[in-house]
Amino acid sequence: MPRKILVTNALPYANGDIHLGHLVGYIQADIWVRYQRMRGNTVHYVCADDTHGTPIMLRAEKEGVTPEALIARVHGEHLRDFTDFGVAFDNYHSTHSPENRWYAEDIYGKLQAAKLIDTRSIEQYYDPVKEMFLPDRFIKGECPKCGAADQYGDNCEVCGAAYAPTELKNPYSAVSGAAPVLRNSDHYFFRLSDESAVGFLREWTQGANLDGIRRLPAEAANKMKEWLGEAGENKLSDWDISRDAPYFGFEIPGAPGKYFYVWLDAPIGYFASFRNLGERNPAIDVAAYTEAGPAAEAGTEMVHFIGKDILYFHALFWPAMLKFAGYRTPTRLCVNGFLTVDGAKMSKSRGTFITARSYTEQKLNPEWLRYYFAAKSNGTMEDVDLSLDDMIAKVNSDLVGKFVNIASRCAGFIGKRFGGSLGTSDEAVLNEYRRAADAGDVAAAYESGDYGRALREIMRLADIANQYVNDEKPWELAKADGEDARLHCVCSTAINLFKALAGFLKPVLPALAAEVEAFLQIPAMTWDDVANPLPAGHTISTYKHLMTRVERKQIDALLEANKASLAPTEAKAATKAASSQQRHGEQQAHVAQREAAQAAGGETLIGIEDFTKVDLRIARIVNAEHVEGADKLIRLTLDIGETENGAPRHRQVFAGIKSAYDPATLVGRHTVMVANLAPRKMKFGLSEGMVLAASDTSGEVPGLFILSPDAGATAGMRVK
Ligand code: 2FM
Ligand code: ZN
Repeated sequence: MPRKILVTNALPYANGDIHLGHLVGYIQADIWVRYQRMRGNTVHYVCADDTHGTPIMLRAEKEGVTPEALIARVHGEHLRDFTDFGVAFDNYHSTHSPENRWYAEDIYGKLQAAKLIDTRSIEQYYDPVKEMFLPDRFIKGECPKCGAADQYGDNCEVCGAAYAPTELKNPYSAVSGAAPVLRNSDHYFFRLSDESAVGFLREWTQGANLDGIRRLPAEAANKMKEWLGEAGENKLSDWDISRDAPYFGFEIPGAPGKYFYVWLDAPIGYFASFRNLGERNPAIDVAAYTEAGPAAEAGTEMVHFIGKDILYFHALFWPAMLKFAGYRTPTRLCVNGFLTVDGAKMSKSRGTFITARSYTEQKLNPEWLRYYFAAKSNGTMEDVDLSLDDMIAKVNSDLVGKFVNIASRCAGFIGKRFGGSLGTSDEAVLNEYRRAADAGDVAAAYESGDYGRALREIMRLADIANQYVNDEKPWELAKADGEDARLHCVCSTAINLFKALAGFLKPVLPALAAEVEAFLQIPAMTWDDVANPLPAGHTISTYKHLMTRVERKQIDALLEANKASLAPTEAKAATKAASSQQRHGEQQAHVAQREAAQAAGGETLIGIEDFTKVDLRIARIVNAEHVEGADKLIRLTLDIGETENGAPRHRQVFAGIKSAYDPATLVGRHTVMVANLAPRKMKFGLSEGMVLAASDTSGEVPGLFILSPDAGATAGMRVK
């Protein structure tokens, strides 16, 4: 029985460009969808823009347009970017849509009927000039603990203290500069701390779907265990789902001036987009995918592709909303990690914060990126590194050197010598491909999201084909007398191997596969006919070169096009995101990070005041030893001139330098340490700081190099 699957991607915010970090998850989902379709399964693949919330409202105001105009413009831009990268949604909708309002009200009404909505008065800062309540990150002031100026409403970047915005001294609004006043307001809460919700989530997050596949990747399920606590313990708080006017969103029925918080109606946008598609396609039975109950859930699947930063919303809030509103819950969450470029976070100053638009404008082939992202995807939540030189090498060697090369070496002979008509093929070689298709390794790898494994297997097959061509030497057969039949057979075999490879690669490289289908004059390939050879007598058209090599200068031009300097306020927002991520729980970290990223769009330059926050000291290595059970760590005992009750006090630091140093060679050396890093509890003990070491993030130069001061520096000296 063919499967029926509703597939979604996380909805991007409607106030920023699509960049390569976004594309990791979209490309992964699109590959999965294309693979499923090749298998004959029915897939509805939908997405939308996530349009609501304060940042979008303020951004529109700043641009002097209505939020509706802003989101309409961005909708067009996003859809164009996805289309350019081959991410082919069946529908790209908007959360600011009648369907979404309908579902949001419906779900909210049902939660209310289930007595899971509470109203509570909460006290919050209000900007009397702007006449709006201020989200925490729009409030600044002096730290209540250390007095540092210009700190955000939830934590101090200087001393690390966490606090409520109401504790800030001399607070001011980051929107208008006015002194905020405290005001009470009624908020609506989804009672997630209710026993029924906690009990359900405990079971749901750890469980499997009807096919026995975990709903969440194991790593994510473990995180949920931490977040939910042990049975009997309840770590979940009720979720504040309302915001006061002015707010760009949906007003809550029966609650004038109260709006649904953007994160309430964002995932509901999956349903809205799907229903909107269904309205234009009566053949789609929308309810069969959204209804709860064994019949619907056995017959259809709902699979969400998301980034690991929004796990909390998709593994807790969303299934709980669905469950208690009487809808089906997701079959499976596929969770991807973040993107790094050359081993580091994307950076505007280095030009590695690369927009989708700039990539296509620089005329780089989107399928190069699809191929590389696929090669680096293994179906886990690990971060994906786009190593630019590695991408160039991989695309050039695998796609141009191995794959396309097979056709370019053989197709000409078929055209020129045999009128474009194929002959019989060498069965022995083709059988190798049939066996590979039957073994199902490539299929299983696609199914599980381990595209890297699928591509390694496909490249193994490409090697076999190239070896065959190298051994048979069609260019020599072409010159020899009486070898026409052999030449015809060798080239036909090679073309059939090439066809099979194109079929295996089709989920990753849909545009290239379509060109191959046109060249071979065959209908769209399905999974079942990938390894079936074309019969003798089948005519193919003239071969045109299918893919060019990537040149380093194209990548350099791309980086140059993306280089930008950031305004100081944006720099602040990004810095804040990074520091609050360390200091707070996962949820707050997420919200701060996403919102700051939404506002600032990336990592950035710092001011001297940021640098001076880091207390760098000369440290003398008093002792260094291996740590039992640790592959990478050395335990360092460091003297930075501190004393305790008159006696020297040493710091213990676990440093990941075992691969590069023999502990004995370190003792007595001086190095540099970060002395004010919050101590971290590790499996092996407390680590009270960090020593500095250099490494080549591109991986070209192996090794790690700890820093040493010039002779004369002594323990405890400050490094500035
Ligand atoms: O984190 C984000 O970018 C959100 N806009 C994702 C929303 S996904 C879904 F819930 F809508
Ligand atoms: Zn402070």
